[in-house]
Amino acid sequence: MTWQERLNSTRRVHLAEWPTPLEPLPRLSAELSCQIFIKRDDQPGPGMGGNKTRKLEYLLADAQRRGQRKVVTFGGLQSNHARLTAAACARLGMETHLFYFDPRPARLVGNLLLNRLFGAHLHFIPLGGGGGMSLEATIRLVRLIAWALVGEHYFIPVGGHNWLGGLGYVRAAQEIDQGTRALGLEKACLVTAAGSGGTLAGLMAGLALCNSPVRPLGIDVGKLWKGFPTSIAALASEICAQLNADYRFSAADVPLIERQYVGQQYGTPSPAGQAALLKLARHEGILLDPVYTAKAFGGMLDLIQRKVIGQDEAVIFLHTGGQAALFAFERQAYG
Ligand SMILES: Cc1ncc(COP(=O)(O)O)c(C=O)c1O
Repeated sequence: MTWQERLNSTRRVHLAEWPTPLEPLPRLSAELSCQIFIKRDDQPGPGMGGNKTRKLEYLLADAQRRGQRKVVTFGGLQSNHARLTAAACARLGMETHLFYFDPRPARLVGNLLLNRLFGAHLHFIPLGGGGGMSLEATIRLVRLIAWALVGEHYFIPVGGHNWLGGLGYVRAAQEIDQGTRALGLEKACLVTAAGSGGTLAGLMAGLALCNSPVRPLGIDVGKLWKGFPTSIAALASEICAQLNADYRFSAADVPLIERQYVGQQYGTPSPAGQAALLKLARHEGILLDPVYTAKAFGGMLDLIQRKVIGQDEAVIFLHTGGQAALFAFERQAYG
């Protein structure tokens, strides 16, 4: 079986229409003298959409195959992954349990409010952010806590971070590769926010498998995980292995800019991110979110302005969604 046949034969549920649009950003391109496009992965799927829809198509098909009706996942208070899991599970008639390791906020706003609308069970366990642990160790710990509190269930790691979820971004890489070729672009840099890193890992694997002229670039928005590039490389390698393809990635192969564009910390809007959010809204009428895409977009603008990217290549911003979080931050954060 080729890797494409293996990918196409892996079961997935249908949550959205594909491919997502690949649109030019004409006013911003003219201002920055660079060809800039946006891939609209902020739109697909139930519950306001976002990048996790692609991962959930595979993960929830696996839950169904295993006969599980109860799904557990976790994330930060404004986790879009948690909200999309709740929405997709509602559509499929499954029960969702969402774990947060912060105190229960006085008011449930933004994604937390939407989770309630989708009927998800919310568990607040104020252990703190657990900073300094690896992604894998955090997932193992939460898995144990969830077994103790919820019993039998299907467990989805933070951000849908495993090889099965990563297949969603191998399919996205195929779409982006075809989309850029259809536009006649010879080379392109594809910029994405990296939270759990699964989107970047899937893109690295997919673009390598397609032998694509598109190169991925991840912008860390969290400073969350010890050994983050190592985790991403391991996941990209595992995705390829699961597709019977012989690609191995090391931490040094991971195109990730760590720390530079995070601002103060994960989950807190940064001044550069907020400026980028306003710029895209006012130039193109497109909304970013303050936690992920605004910081990544701000990083992308800085890299274009400093001529680090976009010199002899087009630039594509992968819009991964998250706009529900706009409603969870104070109005003055938007200037
Ligand atoms: C809006 C948004 N963008 C980007 C990401 C990052 O995706 P990943 O966790 O696959 O790195 C997330 C989730 O973490 C997200 O919710």
